[in-house]
Amino acid sequence: MCGIIACSGVKCAAKVLYRGLEDLEYRGYDSAGISVLEGDSIVTVKRKGRVGELKKGIEGMCGTAGIGHTRWATHGKPSDSNAHPHACGKFSIVHNGIIENYAELKAELMKEGAVFFSATDSEVIVHLLCKYYRGDLKEAVLCTIERLKGSFALCILCSDYKGFVAVRYRNPLIVGMGGGAVYAASDMPALAGLAENVAVLKEGTVAFAVDGEISFCDFAGRPISLTFSPVPASARSRSLCGFPHYMIKEINEIPAAVKNTAAAFEETDCAAKLFRLAKKSAFTQIMLCGCGTAYHSALSAAYMAEELLLLPVRAETAGEFRYRKTSVNRSTLFIAVSQSGETADTVEAARAAKSAGAYVIAVTNVPYSAITAVADMVVPVCAGTEICVAATKSYCGQIAALALTAAALKGPAEYRRAAAAVKSAEAICAKVIAGCFSEDAARACASSAAVYFIGRGADYPVALEGSLKLREVSYIPGEGYPAGELKHGTIALIDGGTLTVAVITEKKIGEKTASAVEQICSRGGGVGVICADGCAPAGLKERAEFFIEVPACHKFISPLVSVIPLQLLAYRTAVILGRDPDKPRNLAKSVTVE
Ligand code: F6R
Repeated sequence: MCGIIACSGVKCAAKVLYRGLEDLEYRGYDSAGISVLEGDSIVTVKRKGRVGELKKGIEGMCGTAGIGHTRWATHGKPSDSNAHPHACGKFSIVHNGIIENYAELKAELMKEGAVFFSATDSEVIVHLLCKYYRGDLKEAVLCTIERLKGSFALCILCSDYKGFVAVRYRNPLIVGMGGGAVYAASDMPALAGLAENVAVLKEGTVAFAVDGEISFCDFAGRPISLTFSPVPASARSRSLCGFPHYMIKEINEIPAAVKNTAAAFEETDCAAKLFRLAKKSAFTQIMLCGCGTAYHSALSAAYMAEELLLLPVRAETAGEFRYRKTSVNRSTLFIAVSQSGETADTVEAARAAKSAGAYVIAVTNVPYSAITAVADMVVPVCAGTEICVAATKSYCGQIAALALTAAALKGPAEYRRAAAAVKSAEAICAKVIAGCFSEDAARACASSAAVYFIGRGADYPVALEGSLKLREVSYIPGEGYPAGELKHGTIALIDGGTLTVAVITEKKIGEKTASAVEQICSRGGGVGVICADGCAPAGLKERAEFFIEVPACHKFISPLVSVIPLQLLAYRTAVILGRDPDKPRNLAKSVTVE
């Protein structure tokens, strides 16, 4: 789960790669490195830490072709030696993915005399290339690929070749062309400022890029062709637009994310397609899967859809679903939710559901991502590129897309109601972002030893999301909990140093959540409340250290509105504590490994 990039035919490869790595840094920021072809030799600079650490080292590097990498450590701790590129003989490589059989390959190669300099799984690739290279680059690449088990996107430099080779198997890789140069990168935005036209490499493709030209073959060496199209406009917006961090910029983009998602749902005729599908297929169950924030939006949707469709609807984390025997079959509608569309567990869960006979819908923010190739139908989320590692606007876009999906499965009348609710969300969200926040709330969080989040019914997934957001950007421990469950164990953790944030968006159920608040207050715990207008049980406001009111709104959009104060709370708390909300420690945006 790293970012890789390559270029050939540019004026100064090191500069181009460095800029591209800055764009890819959200994919991992444990170490970074660049290799450039200078005459007949390959020069490599790599450093532990962020991409910025390379700046000095690459000064004076010349050469028109090269490869670059930004790493999220899997095998081997962050260090200079574990940083990519890995070089050996005439080769240097960068890798995103996991080589599952690296231990046996390493033992074999070491027996044959190879000397390893890192603890990574990736280094076996460069030694295999050396082993199989007899002057024919294509043959060496194909023989190497044949030995690898796992997932890999690779960029390869060979000192006998004036360009680069790119390989895609189960990890994303996009190639681009423009101004006589050729590029490859893990994602589209990294190519946006460089290439004019791009193509997403198909599974099992090798690309040979040299002299401004690019050719492709499959893993058996048979030539294949790819269609290039202009870089999408959505990939181009990388500026902070005056905001101090991407997290707050992206929270401010929630109204547009919701609006654009609803418009795309309409434009792609999703409602009619879903209604026809529901009528034709007579599904007996719906299963939703995702990871992290995407799992939370899936869980919100499960609450919504079950109530609407009166069918068994479950949500599960994709990593659990993959390794279980389940009842998923031909009568199952399987909905995979993923911002990036590249999360390995979610993509594999979708594949597993498909091979069990289920109809698979992908709800994703990235139209060219791996999950779209697996799915029978794509429901677009149009949140725009999300750069902050913590998901915010994509979560709200997902809730909008999922609410519309659930309603469309029910029928045209329900869809019209949902569409009207989602339409109203744009203005409601804008109002919440502009006015619904108290700095006292962030200060209360920042000074707490642990922060818990509770909610019932539709508020429970929101509590989970509020807790995840705060933990990942502030590093304050805590948990999201169903309000009724607290007294069955976790209440043992409540004391004067803790804060519990209760989410209440429904009056009747709010009374139940309020009794959990009473129990917390009786144990000396601090309490904050996020409450929909008019839903507060008597006396709750007086009990709370902070009380944030959000507009009462339709259940279709309630989870995307009530989450906003929680996202702002996480953001402001992180800033107060001096954390980097855009690049939290140990995390990366796109989890393309298991
Ligand atoms: C949390 C967050 C992660 C992602 C998760 C799934 O803020 O961003 O929990 O939601 O890694 O990623 P996608 O949605 O790309 O599959």
